[in-house]
Amino acid sequence: MAALEIENLSFAYRNHPPLFRGLSLRADETVGLIGANGAGKSTLLKLLVGLEEGYGGSVRVQGREARGKGLEEIRKRTGYVFQDSESQLFLRTVREDVAFGPRNQGRPDWERVTAESLERTGLGGLGNRNVYQLSGGEKKLAAIAGVLAMGAEMMLLDEPSAALDPANRERLIAILNALPGVKLIASHDLDFIYDTCKRVILLSHGEIAGDGPAEEILRNRALLEANELRLPLSFRFGAESRGNCRGGTEHGNA
Ligand SMILES: Nc1ncnc2c1ncn2[C@@H]1O[C@H](COP(=O)(O)OP(=O)(O)OP(=O)(O)O)[C@@H](O)[C@H]1O
Ligand SMILES: [Mg+2]
Repeated sequence: MAALEIENLSFAYRNHPPLFRGLSLRADETVGLIGANGAGKSTLLKLLVGLEEGYGGSVRVQGREARGKGLEEIRKRTGYVFQDSESQLFLRTVREDVAFGPRNQGRPDWERVTAESLERTGLGGLGNRNVYQLSGGEKKLAAIAGVLAMGAEMMLLDEPSAALDPANRERLIAILNALPGVKLIASHDLDFIYDTCKRVILLSHGEIAGDGPAEEILRNRALLEANELRLPLSFRFGAESRGNCRGGTEHGNA
């Protein structure tokens, strides 16, 4: 059993033409999900945790079908960072919000886990802050801290690096690379994808237009450009001299 198994998925938003028309994929590793605006990345992630419902075919997360009873289990075990962090944070303070997951799971060590997640994301000093008084990047970090605190087996991250400054972006790369478990990372930040994912799936109008090692897909200029994307900086202008950038620590261009 792979962590994620999608077979013959079909889905349409109400009163809209079909978005997915028989999509199949299996993943048991961290995967980068790329594709033009509107390609279907966010919808795919939402279907996995039941934020959109009414699909045809089969969607299984860790062996559980993403409908009915299966969804309850999937939600307990899956961390999800929304593309729009406004709709993610809903409790009064940052600390309460980050604590929600581990408290809900009944973890006796929820206070420690919450404090650790705040520290790891650099939000240690903002625990008492009202979530509505955070900057865009801080909201994203708070949402990520909440997902880390869940200790989820699977993580779905929708544009996790958007709104982060370069230092926080680097911090997030290190956090994700140190985490066990399967991650699905949707992003237009192809350098971020390169630094965090070994496999990349390219979506185009709800279909898989490319699937392979990050090194191959992200270097394929023709494929990327045919899909409104561009070569990541890592592969432009002789940036090969940057050497092995995995882990995101070497950004020199010696
Ligand atoms: N609630 C909705 N109702 C109707 N159509 C929707 C809805 N949400 C998204 N869509 C449409 O479904 C398609 C896929 O959207 P989705 O958000 O999955 O794309 P995406 O790949 O995440 O794009 P982006 O890179 O802009 O985040 C788009 O054409 C979008 O307009
Ligand atoms: Mg999206």
